[in-house]
Amino acid sequence: MEKIELTAFSDPKSPISEAYRTIRTNLQFAGVDKELKIIEVTSTLPDEGKSTVIASLAVVMAQAGKKTLLMDCDFRNPTLHKIFKVRNKGLSDCIATGGNFEDYKQSLGQENLELFPAGPVAPNPSELLTSAKMKSLLAQFREAYDYVLIDTPPILPVTDAAALASRVDGVVLVIASGQDSPEAVQLSKKRLEQADAQILGCVLNKVKIGGGRYGYGRSYGYGYGYRYYYGGDDSKK
Ligand SMILES: Nc1ncnc2c1ncn2[C@@H]1O[C@H](COP(=O)(O)OP(=O)(O)OP(=O)(O)O)[C@@H](O)[C@H]1O
Ligand SMILES: [Mg+2]
Repeated sequence: MEKIELTAFSDPKSPISEAYRTIRTNLQFAGVDKELKIIEVTSTLPDEGKSTVIASLAVVMAQAGKKTLLMDCDFRNPTLHKIFKVRNKGLSDCIATGGNFEDYKQSLGQENLELFPAGPVAPNPSELLTSAKMKSLLAQFREAYDYVLIDTPPILPVTDAAALASRVDGVVLVIASGQDSPEAVQLSKKRLEQADAQILGCVLNKVKIGGGRYGYGRSYGYGYGYRYYYGGDDSKK
């Protein structure tokens, strides 16, 4: 796997880190009137940047003093342990053995941030995610953390993200710019709604910035940026 660098971790002053802080603020406002603690991130298709986005978001949440648990529920392509370079023992082991979460959580060198890795690839991910053990873990985390940020597989290829959606407080959809057809995004939105998901908004990822032919030339050429649209109609702005 290609190595993923987290700018929010290594360079808190960069514009990318600032963009993540904007997403953080929007999520905090979205939680003013209702409990918004357990947040799932998904996307329509693979490789849109879900794991990068949720890991970065967890870092800026923790930097703001929020006790944050980053949880990898992508049993098909577990990634968060690779980003933070820790061993992959976690949720699937914990559910399979009925073990204690405390034995699996990992500190990450960032105050207020802990990781619950996915554990080894499981044959029955949707069943694990809808198990009674998973339900009790989420209830336990709700008491112990300010935010629980959950990475999941993409919606269209597999059912895992939709299966989990009704058990979390909200879902953020990552959309890689220029990668999905509008129809595919509409379909994933429909799948989430059918699963009773509370869709909080979208992160438009992998946006090319500063590369326009007539732009105000940036010496470094192409870069990547993030924009966050909170709420349904705002996305048309
Ligand atoms: N904004 C960005 N700009 C440039 N590259 C990015 C950006 N976001 C993610 N990537 C890169 O895209 C690749 C996929 O990212 P990531 O693993 O986060 O996606 P994913 O949606 O979690 O994939 P999967 O569906 O396989 O779980 C990685 O190489 C990552 O470094
Ligand atoms: Mg991923």
